[in-house]
Amino acid sequence: MLSRRHFLQGSAAAFAAGPAFALSPRPVGAATSLTLTAGAMPHRLPGCSADSLLWGYNSTWPLELRVQRGRPFEAVLKNALPDHTAIHWHGLRIPFEMDGVPYFTQAPVEPGQSFRYAFSPPDPGTFFFHPHCDTITQLGRGLAGVLVVEDPRDAGLFDHDQVLVLKDWRVRRDGSFEDFTTDAGAAKAGTFGSVRSVNGAAPPEIVVRPGARLRLRLVNIDLTRIPMLGLRGAAQAAIIATDGNACTPFPVDGWRLGPAMRADLGVVMPATEGAEVFLEDIWSTKPRLLAKLVTRGAALRRDGAQPALRLPEAELPVPDLKAATELDMALLAGHADPKMEAWAKANGVSIDELCLTRKVFWSINRQSWPGMGPGLKPDPLYELKAGRSYVIEIFNGTPHLHPMHLHGHTFRVVASTEEDVRPHWSDTVLVRPKERVKIAFVAGLPGDWMVHCHIIEHQETGMMGYIRVA
Ligand code: C2O
Ligand code: CU
Repeated sequence: MLSRRHFLQGSAAAFAAGPAFALSPRPVGAATSLTLTAGAMPHRLPGCSADSLLWGYNSTWPLELRVQRGRPFEAVLKNALPDHTAIHWHGLRIPFEMDGVPYFTQAPVEPGQSFRYAFSPPDPGTFFFHPHCDTITQLGRGLAGVLVVEDPRDAGLFDHDQVLVLKDWRVRRDGSFEDFTTDAGAAKAGTFGSVRSVNGAAPPEIVVRPGARLRLRLVNIDLTRIPMLGLRGAAQAAIIATDGNACTPFPVDGWRLGPAMRADLGVVMPATEGAEVFLEDIWSTKPRLLAKLVTRGAALRRDGAQPALRLPEAELPVPDLKAATELDMALLAGHADPKMEAWAKANGVSIDELCLTRKVFWSINRQSWPGMGPGLKPDPLYELKAGRSYVIEIFNGTPHLHPMHLHGHTFRVVASTEEDVRPHWSDTVLVRPKERVKIAFVAGLPGDWMVHCHIIEHQETGMMGYIRVA
C-alpha cells in the first residue's frame, strides 16, 4: 500500500518510456490487520483507449502488503465480486486451514460473504496471494496481490526496495477482455496475453542517485508467460533470492521466471550521473524492457566498504538427503475422467458452477484432476509423515515447460538432468521437457497440500494433485 503512494507521488509525465518516479527508502511494514475487499475496478492498461474492468483487492492494482516476519497478521476477505472466491497465500508455510483452497481447506466465500485469514508468516521474502478457483478468469482479470514479509536482519542493506509485478492481459484495445482460455493454448504452452505490463502499466523508468543500491522484487503473476531475465549496465547485480528465499547470489543472465515464480535482484548503480540500467525479458530475439533505472543527482556517499550483495541465510527446515524417501512424479498428457462427469450428473451439479473444467489435457502420475467440488477428491499422490525428509524426482514427459508448485512447503531444488542447477530454495520449480528435477524437503504441517502446474490452464485441465502430510 505504501509503495503505491510513492509511485503516484513520484510520477511525472517527463518520460515517454513509462511512468517515471523517484524512489525513497521504504518504511518498515506495519500491516497487521486489514480488510481485503475483492471487487471489480476500472484500470487503464497500457496501449488501451479505455479502462478495463479488472478484479483486484481494495481497488488498488497491484496491491502490495508489507508485514513483519513472525508477527501475527490478519486479513478479512470481503467478497464484492459476482463470483465466489478465496485467498491462497502462495509460498507461505502456514497452517492448512489458512491455505485458501475452496472445497479443500475452506468453503468458497460467496458474494457478500467474508472469511478471516490469520497467521504469522514464518519466513521472510517476496510472496503473493491469489484465488484458487476459476483461477483462469479471476487471476486473468488481475485478482492477486503481493505480500512482502520483511526481515529485520536485512534492514539497511538497500537504499530502495521496489516490487515489479509482471502480468500480461487478454485484452483488446478498447479495454474489453478476450476469452481467458483457448483449447489450443490449454493443450500447449498456454494462452498468452496480448498486452504486457509491469505493475499494471508500461515499463517504469526509475530514477535513483548514482551509486544507489536497489532491491528489485520481481513477481511473475502471469498465468502463462515465462520471461528470461537479463540486466545490463549495472555496476553490480545478482539474483539474491529465489521465490523469496535468500540464495547464494548468481548472475541474472538468462534466469527463467515461470508463472508464480519470484526473483529478488540486488543492483548497485554506477557512480556516475545519467547512467542507465536495463532490466529486460531476453527470451525472444528482440528483448522486451521490464524496467529502466537511471541515475540522477549527487552520488550517494557511503562510509566504509560496500556491503556484499547478499541476503542473510534462509532459515528453513533442511532435508536430510541421506535419510530421505525417494518418490517419483511424472508430468504427462491426460485424459478425461468419465467418473467426474458421471459424478456431476448423479449429483445434479453443473460442472461449470464448480471449480471445474470439462477439458482434460494433463496429468500427474497418470491421474488427472481438473478441479475440485464438494466430494470430488481423488486419492493423494503420496502420504508423507510430518518431520521426515523426502526427495521427489519430477519428470516432464511433455513437450512443454511446467512451473510446478507445492503448497505449504519450501523445497530445495537439488539436482537436474538438463543443466547445472544451482541448489536453491523454491516453492515453484520450472521443469523443462524431458528434464528430471529433484526437489527435497521436510514434510511440514499436517494437511492435504496441493501440487500443480502454475500455468493455470494446465492446472485447471488436469495437472493437479495433492500430497497428504500426517
Ligand atoms: Cu499460486 Cu496452488 O497456487
Ligand atoms: Cu504446465
